[in-house]
Amino acid sequence: MVPVVDLSRHAPELVAQYLERVRQVLARGTVLLGPETEAFEHELATWADAPGSVSVSSGAGALQLTLAALGVGPGDEVIVPAFTAVPTASAVCALGATPVFADVDPTTASIDANSVDAVRTDRTKAVVVVHLYGRPAELPGTDLPIVEDAAQAMGALERHDASAAVAYSFYPTKNLGGIGDGGAVVSADADLLERVRRLRVHGMTQQYVHEWVSQNFRMSEIEAAWLRLGLPLLDRWNEARRDVSTRYRAAAPGLRWHADHERHVQHLCVFRTSDRDRTRARLADLGVGTGVHYPLALTQQPAYRHLTRRPCPEAEAWASECVSLPCFPQMTADEVDTVAAALATIHAEGLA
Ligand SMILES: Cc1ncc(COP(=O)(O)O)c(C=O)c1O
Repeated sequence: MVPVVDLSRHAPELVAQYLERVRQVLARGTVLLGPETEAFEHELATWADAPGSVSVSSGAGALQLTLAALGVGPGDEVIVPAFTAVPTASAVCALGATPVFADVDPTTASIDANSVDAVRTDRTKAVVVVHLYGRPAELPGTDLPIVEDAAQAMGALERHDASAAVAYSFYPTKNLGGIGDGGAVVSADADLLERVRRLRVHGMTQQYVHEWVSQNFRMSEIEAAWLRLGLPLLDRWNEARRDVSTRYRAAAPGLRWHADHERHVQHLCVFRTSDRDRTRARLADLGVGTGVHYPLALTQQPAYRHLTRRPCPEAEAWASECVSLPCFPQMTADEVDTVAAALATIHAEGLA
């Protein structure tokens, strides 16, 4: 069966160098917020052509601290797309604020600008735009601060100064996958980054002086060491993902594909079908593993649905129809051929 993702194949070419870096970290004895982390932040900012970045312990943490740095707190509302990974919304809840769900576009799955206006109130403090599946979303025209959730879209953005900040995740399956959890905030706003930097360490401004209530969001030195080795390979990995997706789309152009984009980095390669169970079962027969990202919109999630203000039918339609295909840089040519042939078959059979 061709797997949706296989982390055991991730970057074997980096292992020897990485072990040497780990040895150096241990020899230095600085295992948190040391030279590897500092160098990674510098290299990430250079890669993004941004003045700075702050590494944190996860993508969810990057979102949470960015919103906190924008002043979001209890009683405030933050607009988020109704179709996304749950951490987009839980980051808002972690601050005592309320995520307010806006519907998404039926072709791109990204937040619909008209829906943003429809759910805005005088308590709205920010909008989170999610570049879902690796496709760069259009930012809505608004005077509210925008935070970009680019957890799935590293390499897709043309600029990092079009919003208040961009949040990345280095969860192992992400386009720049870590060896554990990690995340980063990239921004052109040096003051915002400085606030995030302090919020990362319990809101501490000088040794044991805490000006804000926060917690621990540090990235480890060995995580930063790994990410430094991976960052120069990101473009190549993204190109490989794009080649896989292009091949699938060419093999079955009649499928209802997630809208493409010239900068789409194909974190997930997704199509829609109204008969998902049968389609996935047939693909499995043909040797193709699939996933579902995500089976429920936020308006349907048990822990979040009570927050729904307006129906979000497009988000719920995505949730009931989306299928994710195998798409990762280390796929073999045979695996890609198997998936491409299976897609042509299911389309010819009228399944999708
Ligand atoms: C769109 C989106 N936002 C936020 C996150 C949270 O990232 P992390 O798992 O690193 O906390 C993820 C990944 O799970 C994600 O896919």
